[in-house]
Amino acid sequence: MNLVCNVVGARPNFMKMAPIVAEMRRRGMPQLFVHTGQHYDRQMSDLFLEELGLPAPDVSLGVGSGSQAVQTGRILMAFEEVCLQKQPSLVVVAGDVNSTLACALAASKLHIPVAHVEAGLRSFDRAMPEETNRVLTDHLADLHFCTEISAIDNLLAEGISSDKIFLVGNCMVDSLWTHLERAVACCPWKRFGYRAGNYGLVTLHRPSNVDDEETLQEVARALAELSEVMPLLFPAHPRTQDRIKRSNLSFGATTITEPMGYLEFLGLMAKARLVLTDSGGIQEETTALGIPCITLRNNTERPVTVKKGTNQLVGVSREGIVSSGLAAWKGNRGSYSIPELWDGKAAGRIVDIIECWLSNRSCHTTVSAGTPHEQVQELRPFGARA
Ligand code: UD1
Repeated sequence: MNLVCNVVGARPNFMKMAPIVAEMRRRGMPQLFVHTGQHYDRQMSDLFLEELGLPAPDVSLGVGSGSQAVQTGRILMAFEEVCLQKQPSLVVVAGDVNSTLACALAASKLHIPVAHVEAGLRSFDRAMPEETNRVLTDHLADLHFCTEISAIDNLLAEGISSDKIFLVGNCMVDSLWTHLERAVACCPWKRFGYRAGNYGLVTLHRPSNVDDEETLQEVARALAELSEVMPLLFPAHPRTQDRIKRSNLSFGATTITEPMGYLEFLGLMAKARLVLTDSGGIQEETTALGIPCITLRNNTERPVTVKKGTNQLVGVSREGIVSSGLAAWKGNRGSYSIPELWDGKAAGRIVDIIECWLSNRSCHTTVSAGTPHEQVQELRPFGARA
């Protein structure tokens, strides 16, 4: 019997893994669902499991917070035990959080194959812990599931063999299409007295933005200025709340709230006039929704959201944030399109490939010579379902 171990740990993992867990359940595949407990507050974890229809974890590691090394080390030790006891045939990890790397490393050292969902994304900024997690996880993984073509180019450039790489689409967007109607039907903007299409939504949690006082001050000034022109709602991550409390900064008329559940936030995002963020996932969700996204970073590991989608990288200067925010508010949307295979069927493609791989220990594609993009053309039909 092939047991597949599906891992989640932090908030952005839940929406990426939910469609895969559901698809494996639908097909009756034996699976073990593990939650590392990197995120543990109800608002950061349990609410997401409930809203996304994820089952209660079979195993909860309860590792909690800590420095990068402490958190990663605790997960590594606890997950090794799980692997030794349960002997899964494959471990599936998603994204770029500490849980992703720690579980991939523990499995790999026990010679248990690893599949990485959202493989190959690169910001080329090693100051971000997530970039280290991405690179190392990809070099441990046996199967790489990619959301965009740039990710395939990155993996090939790093010497990862093309027969391990699959362009499958975006599981986070699978969850979005599944839950969008329900999320919008709740009209979450009414709770704040807003009208649909008439407010801006803010999220910030990157250590580079919120842990650095000067940067946070610059961003606070920009948001305060924008809040004079538009209603601004800012559901703040625990890290950010903590920094705001300690800094005494003013965000003007911006409404700062607790972090929100998946449905409430998705409903708010779908009807926002613009979104200001430093999150990776929100750059993708706004592109799928066609909502202008102003990203408070100088780089992105998701270039397709800029090239095809609605995303704009503006950095963290007050002037840049204010001028882009005002332009988006006035309706300067520009043209955009939804990236290839962001069609709500990524999990089906992933599970097709996993099933095939488990029965053969390989998935044969016809990839041989050719430029990376030609190879992608060959890979794409592999997992594609009618
Ligand atoms: C983590 C991920 C990041 C992801 C983000 C989404 C890493 C390196 N970073 O960052 O990629 O975008 O999650 O939210 O894995 N905290 C709580 N309650 C919780 C979780 C965290 O209060 O449920 C507090 C912790 O005590 C800590 C801070 O938030 O002080 C940061 O948590 P941590 O998991 O270390 O990293 P994130 O900033 O959430």
